[in-house]
Amino acid sequence: MMLSFNTRAARGGFLLAVAWLWALLPEGRAAAPTAREGAATESRAATRAALDVLRTGGNAVDAAVAAAFVAGVVSPSSSGLGGGGFALVRRAADTQPFVLDFRESAPAALDAAAFEARPFADNERARATGVPGELSGLAELHQRFGKRKWAELVRPAAQWAESGFLVEGHLASVLASPPSQLLRSDSGLADLYFKAGKPAVVGARLRNPKLAKSLRRIANEGARSLYEGPLGGGLVAAARAKGGALDLADLKAYRPKERVPLRVSWEGYEVYSMPPPSAGGLLLAQVLGLFSSAELKKLGLGSGAYQHILAEAMRGSLSDRMRYVGDPEFATVNVEALLQPARLSARKRAMAYDRTHTPPRFGLEQGGTHHLVVADREGNVVSLSTTINSAFGAKLSGAESGIVLNDQLTDFTAKKDVLPFGLDESPNRARPGARPVSSMTPTIVTRAGRPVLVLGGSGGTTIPLNVTQVLLARLVFDLGAQEALKAPRFFVPTSGATLRVDSGTAQALLDDLRWRGEIVEHKRSDATAVQLIAFGADGQIESAADPRKLGSGETR
Ligand code: DON
Repeated sequence: MMLSFNTRAARGGFLLAVAWLWALLPEGRAAAPTAREGAATESRAATRAALDVLRTGGNAVDAAVAAAFVAGVVSPSSSGLGGGGFALVRRAADTQPFVLDFRESAPAALDAAAFEARPFADNERARATGVPGELSGLAELHQRFGKRKWAELVRPAAQWAESGFLVEGHLASVLASPPSQLLRSDSGLADLYFKAGKPAVVGARLRNPKLAKSLRRIANEGARSLYEGPLGGGLVAAARAKGGALDLADLKAYRPKERVPLRVSWEGYEVYSMPPPSAGGLLLAQVLGLFSSAELKKLGLGSGAYQHILAEAMRGSLSDRMRYVGDPEFATVNVEALLQPARLSARKRAMAYDRTHTPPRFGLEQGGTHHLVVADREGNVVSLSTTINSAFGAKLSGAESGIVLNDQLTDFTAKKDVLPFGLDESPNRARPGARPVSSMTPTIVTRAGRPVLVLGGSGGTTIPLNVTQVLLARLVFDLGAQEALKAPRFFVPTSGATLRVDSGTAQALLDDLRWRGEIVEHKRSDATAVQLIAFGADGQIESAADPRKLGSGETR
């Protein structure tokens, strides 16, 4: 079933109502009768761009690149050319995925000591801006695997920026939130997103002519236009005006890095996920290493015992992250040792169904990331996370280019946050050139050499927790793609409560969790989302986007 949506007709509350209805539509809406290719992203326009590329002969990488460009225009609070990300690409002919790390790195002139005194003042917020990797990463993916011409993949984004796009629900909610007031101090962003002082609402049409011009330039000149050309100069000026260390030389020296995927064999599946500098793949792998499918099935999806014991496992992993994970170029990160069966068994013995262990608290909460998944009919699949970190990143843009700068370096860990873990300094401390540890968890699962599940998510430290829960909902409990996303999920907060559950959780479950020692809070978050493509036994695919962030999944 192809979904059609007349964007021109939609306005204001009407669009919001449609978006909600869309999210609530019953199971199966995302699967065409013989669907063999599809995409799911956090934005309808980005999903549509991916499908258009697939329909016109592009492969999954072409579609993912086009969708990432569109995401940067229509979901500018989450990702864009001023940010970075990770991608897993599995070609039908290969066993294991190719992994690309195009995460932001710290500028060479970074003042590492200053990172101990965070948060930075608003007028110095570009101190957290890392060297953007997004464009370099997308160009590398296209160069290695793309079939379509580069300019054709950039064009849909340029067109949306030029002719205007309709504000979707998540962007409207970000603009209406208090932190977005900071956008007003950047004249380019204020003009775009606030009319007469009021934030743009759902359904408003926004044109971004500066970004359109930048994208046209990128279409013609490639990544050079930013890393060695005028677009980069504008970003450096914007960052420096707010205390940033970003320099032209940093841009020129930036390279994406190929990494070896983190791999675990579990219950007949091969699960491939993101290695360091992400800590997301580690959490997923540790949870799988601790439990068998039968064990989890017996507990029952969403039961108190299930949520609590998974949360215990995740708290253990978050604690490992604080102690042992950093940029592998700067810290020794022995993932194999962290996944040793003997070590996991010992951890399991320390976990209990009637007690809650609290890892020392650490603060890592953000609001700007976009995860997308694509599969083409040749069997190639892509799982790509792209981010500018906080909502609208550093809330600064290039005066001419319209490109929004990231604040990714807030993902470095301050000394005070590792002291409770018995460390003097963090393996993830700020250092010139280092890439801060991420939670992003792009993941591909295969069985007997074929993809069975492609997923990933957004939502800061909630990402690996959400990805793990959705993966289990599919692989252990056999839920359909949409059902797996709709199932209740929990999060392990970094302060206050030990467990955050969806609002509306039944009293009996809350009582059960509290009996196990969990301090439970309820909170609905629209900053957290998982996208997935699930393959049926016959190769038929279902694609689905998280109703929490109102994205869209389509197949054909
Ligand atoms: O790399 C990370 O883990 C974070 N900077 C991602 C931020 C994020 O997911 C915000 N979410 N919506």
